[in-house]
Amino acid sequence: MKKVNVINGPNLNLLGSREPQLYGKRSLDEINQNLSRLAQKLNLQLEFMQSNLEGELVDHIQKLPGRCDAIVINAGAYTHTSIAIRDALLAVALPFIEVHLCNVDKREAFRKTSYLSDIASGVIYGFGPLG
Ligand code: DQA
Repeated sequence: MKKVNVINGPNLNLLGSREPQLYGKRSLDEINQNLSRLAQKLNLQLEFMQSNLEGELVDHIQKLPGRCDAIVINAGAYTHTSIAIRDALLAVALPFIEVHLCNVDKREAFRKTSYLSDIASGVIYGFGPLG
């Protein structure tokens, strides 16, 4: 069974109450429960991690080789700033999908820059919790 590590970055622990018009009304727990149900159907094993700290995210990514086959990551605001998270993903060389709930292209100019997109296997954004 393939293992996928699902990583959420800063402020995503507040999903449900945080700017629901942008990010939807579902909590991170609810989203993760829905993912687990979907994963069962797809014969995938999921593990979840969330942190508000850049270094913790880097430490976590560094430990993933041998523990999972792929990563799904919503790095939150670190998407637009973090060379360290980019470098960690490059270092572990695991395939990853970048996810955002909102349509980052419809918002402030700084959200159009992603340090992850060009090294991601794919990018999903703008579909809220469905993404
Ligand atoms: C986000 C988009 C980012 O720009 C923002 O900083 C977030 C959430 C999203 O899922 O839409 O924290 O990654």
